[in-house]
Amino acid sequence: MALRFYSKRFATALRTSRANCCSARYASTAAALKDSSLPKDVKDSIAREACLPTPDPPSTSKTAGLVNQQLPYMVPTYVRPPPMFEKGEGCYLYDIENRKYLDFTSGIAVNALGHCDEGVAQAIAEQSQLLMHTSNLYHNPLTGLLSKQLIQLTHATGGFASATRTFICNSGSEANEAAIKFARKVGKEVSPDKDKFDIVSFYGSFHGRTMGSLSATPNPKYQKPFAPMIPGFRYGNFNDVDAVNDLVTGSTCGVIIEPIQGEGGVNVATPEFLIALRKRCTEVGAVLIYDEIQCGLGRTGNFWAHAGYPKECHPDIVTTAKALGNGFPIGATIVNDFVCDHIKTGDHGTTFGGNPLGCRVASYILSRLSSPEILDSIPKKSAAFKKHFDGLRERFPERLKEVRGQGLILGLQLDEDPTPIITAARERGLLIITCGTNMLRFVPPLIITEEEIDAGMAIVADAMESIWSRGEQVSGTPGQQEMR
Ligand SMILES: Cc1ncc(COP(=O)(O)O)c(C=O)c1O
Repeated sequence: MALRFYSKRFATALRTSRANCCSARYASTAAALKDSSLPKDVKDSIAREACLPTPDPPSTSKTAGLVNQQLPYMVPTYVRPPPMFEKGEGCYLYDIENRKYLDFTSGIAVNALGHCDEGVAQAIAEQSQLLMHTSNLYHNPLTGLLSKQLIQLTHATGGFASATRTFICNSGSEANEAAIKFARKVGKEVSPDKDKFDIVSFYGSFHGRTMGSLSATPNPKYQKPFAPMIPGFRYGNFNDVDAVNDLVTGSTCGVIIEPIQGEGGVNVATPEFLIALRKRCTEVGAVLIYDEIQCGLGRTGNFWAHAGYPKECHPDIVTTAKALGNGFPIGATIVNDFVCDHIKTGDHGTTFGGNPLGCRVASYILSRLSSPEILDSIPKKSAAFKKHFDGLRERFPERLKEVRGQGLILGLQLDEDPTPIITAARERGLLIITCGTNMLRFVPPLIITEEEIDAGMAIVADAMESIWSRGEQVSGTPGQQEMR
């Protein structure tokens, strides 16, 4: 009882203060508790709770109790930090104990329209009462509509002009899986007498977890547990123009690349590199695949990231997913006739993919993500982030290195493990993720406001100050998906 009283009194009084007063609050709380007869661990937890607006749920919390009940039933593919989220609204998430978090992750570049967008919710509600699924054995009015919309938007927004058709599926991995299979089929048909089945991809890429997309993801952390990979995959160095001719040969049926590598560390492909790949693919008759699952759909400020590159490097296939469903699982593989002419009925398929529910939702989302309201706002928001990054690099020149990325897919390179910063930020009410090696990744909802960017970056600054300037100890909580 006494504990609850202390805890509540300090926490309530101090949580109303501004987040960047954390160290002052910590000091005064610690002073107030100094003469108390409470056990040390209790005093520590009170001081800690009082010093932060949203500290992680402790091991005694309702959250931890629930997690411990449920975890034994889940295959342990992820390690997660302590909060348990149950509600989302715009750029904010709320946990089951009603802590509020500003979300700079948007579910790994998925919730471009923010959490629980009204229009998305309405599309789901309406369509779920009309027709959700019939299988691809029958026509419905929405799969074709979404396909047409993707092609028309690609043309209208400066994407690859040769795009003609779309295959709708359920996820990014599945969209890449289709692209890889299509490239293999093209290779077999354009060169029936010769083995033309090699797929080329690049170090630092992430194309998914299914065996085909994983085989194109040359990261030992992901591949080693499931080796051997599918035969015929070759890897090159990203942006190495000189290596292109030896890497892509007459045996190559497809080249898959992210114009901006997301998981690999927000690495932006140079126009020279993509032009060299396009030229070489055309020379050897290989399919050029752009994986825009993370960087596409408005994130760079262009509807497709490749629309920001010269037309000479435009691809034969674009794959997309993530923001296409804003949380609803859906993906798509957009192809031109060079590819589609080789795909026949029965070559590929899916049960759920392209069902009326997913297509209705994606169709609505596309109309928003391609709107000037979203696309025209990205450069200003990107500049706002970059201004904050510049300020932080001036304050911590030894710790913060490069800034990479475009639009709202941005990375801030640290010279050390960023996990304590991520934990300190979360405990102050901000979610960020990592990528590459020691990179902080910023992929917020595209609807984020400049006020929200300022508020979030103030938290990042305070997290860095607390650890690097004030020497506060934060043991980083594991649970970030890092490429190590
Ligand atoms: C560029 C890229 N490709 C493919 C994938 C795999 O998508 P999914 O997780 O939906 O299968 C991801 C996921 O992070 C990605 O970022």
